[in-house]
Amino acid sequence: TGQWAKKAYQEAQKYGEAVAVASSADKTFSYIPDCSDLDIPEDADYVYICENNTIYGTKYKTLPNTKGHTLVADVSSCFLSEPVDVTKYGVIYGGVQKNVGPAGVVIAIIREDLITDDVLEGTPTMLKWKTQADAGSLYNTPPCYGIYICGKVFKWIKKMGGLEAMKAHNEKKAKILYDYLDQSKLFKGTVVPEDRSLMNVPFVTGDAELDKKFVAEATAAGFVNLKGHRTVGGMRASIYNAMPIEGVEKLVEFMKKFEAENA
Ligand SMILES: Cc1ncc(COP(=O)(O)O)c(C=O)c1O
Repeated sequence: TGQWAKKAYQEAQKYGEAVAVASSADKTFSYIPDCSDLDIPEDADYVYICENNTIYGTKYKTLPNTKGHTLVADVSSCFLSEPVDVTKYGVIYGGVQKNVGPAGVVIAIIREDLITDDVLEGTPTMLKWKTQADAGSLYNTPPCYGIYICGKVFKWIKKMGGLEAMKAHNEKKAKILYDYLDQSKLFKGTVVPEDRSLMNVPFVTGDAELDKKFVAEATAAGFVNLKGHRTVGGMRASIYNAMPIEGVEKLVEFMKKFEAENA
């Protein structure tokens, strides 16, 4: 479903056999493949997904049917954006740098029975989950400052009303932007409506020069980081937990003005 899944697949091939059982590469990763009846090898150790695709703006709204195999999910760009049923996963992992804190900290939620000494030969001691779990995540020197900031964010999320409230806040923000995109004659969202991310909203005008003009004018007006990932072009608004509703409202206001001026 995009760059991160591809990288995970390539990396896994170094350590064992990796099989791609689903892909949305045929339509530039603009949708989430149907994962209700995948051809999963019987002896597979796990099924991997990148749950929210940061670059392409898609999100699994339904988890794949893993047919009893352990589900491993990279949740880097959706972690803490809404409630999650952790019992459905074997491993949930992600970098904290989107919704939680500064880069340099990884959160891993691992099912107890997967925290064992049964690891691939040659696995570095500090990369064994058991090493980290047994040492209370203090086997080596942790990035204390980053963890301290994560703690502050956890408290902020609780104060906001927890993950149910975060979800409502994020849905409200995303709706403002998607509703505008759906009726705009200039801008177009690139993801099929049913698989749209609440966090990352990619859009285009259909004209690379006009996209460039929009990004330049938006930047001048104080809207930063709207340029799409270098591999896909266009625009992408990342509206993580910390983005207030007013931020999205201002962006839509600016887009309307740009549309009127460039129709
Ligand atoms: C879904 C996802 N996975 C993995 C990564 C890689 O994170 P890092 O750069 O911390 O390795 C990113 C970064 O943007 C991401 O969005």
